[in-house]
Amino acid sequence: MAAAIEVRDLEKSYGPVDAVRGLSFSVEQGEVFGLLGPNGAGKTTTVEILEGYRKRTGGNVSVLGHDPEVRDRRLQERLGIVLQSSGFYPQATVREAVANTSKAYSRPRDVEETIDLVGLADKADARTAELSGGQRRRLDLALALIGDPELVFLDEPTTGFDPAARRTAWNAVRNLRGLGMTVLLTTHYLDEAQELADRVAIVKDGRIVAQGPPSELGPEQARYRVSYLSSGRRVEHQTDDPTDLLHRLTSDALARGERLDGLEVSRPTLEDVYLELTAE
Ligand SMILES: Nc1ncnc2c1ncn2[C@@H]1O[C@H](COP(=O)(O)OP(=O)(O)O)[C@@H](O)[C@H]1O
Ligand SMILES: [Mg+2]
Repeated sequence: MAAAIEVRDLEKSYGPVDAVRGLSFSVEQGEVFGLLGPNGAGKTTTVEILEGYRKRTGGNVSVLGHDPEVRDRRLQERLGIVLQSSGFYPQATVREAVANTSKAYSRPRDVEETIDLVGLADKADARTAELSGGQRRRLDLALALIGDPELVFLDEPTTGFDPAARRTAWNAVRNLRGLGMTVLLTTHYLDEAQELADRVAIVKDGRIVAQGPPSELGPEQARYRVSYLSSGRRVEHQTDDPTDLLHRLTSDALARGERLDGLEVSRPTLEDVYLELTAE
């Protein structure tokens, strides 16, 4: 089965700014893939190149077997692109906005089902101008889904959301996965990538610094840290075998008639790993 997205050595410069510096990754069909990284990492630039909104400076890109730069209508119909704002229909209800947009497609999804999919069933009769920020973003998602796309792009789907709105948005993304859609999402929230993505690429300064399933990016790869206080200063050792190291440290200390004050054994969390990889 061909990958839904193939990116090889992608580069993008804005004048003197090298925003993307040789990204390579692929997204399988039916997969939720996360580009995770801090602001300015190059995530939006990458997504907009894949959507066909920006021209790349170098490298190769294939989206559902097409070069998105060509902006083929047949490709555009198969993509779900969440626009910045659904402000076109301020007077319309949620149902009217979704139904209206569905007319642009030859084989749209069912309107009610799509509203339900994004968790807006109880707001179907509300005017779009009256929706909260989180509800409006989910309406934007419904508008992106009404054409029944195979591949959906979500750029920072929950940035600025309160915890309840985030959870609703997460459910909407899980629903897409359940329908077999392929999803490329960007986020700067580690927990969001962990929660939603089958695989994650951590991006920093236009480069991928780590890639894999969230569970494999975490502390499993990291070494144990053993530390204690010696003359008031903390001494730290790193090891893959804390049993052996502790045995040696404590028996040496006992042989000297000393105590290892403040003895600690710890392992970096996935958050520590992420912060270390993306540190300035
Ligand atoms: N239209 C643009 N013109 C010039 N520089 C840009 C433009 N868009 C983005 N950049 C720069 O490219 C880099 C990557 O930005 P962006 O892709 O938006 O990152 P992210 O989405 O990860 O926050 C940043 O340094 C940003 O300032
Ligand atoms: Mg961005």
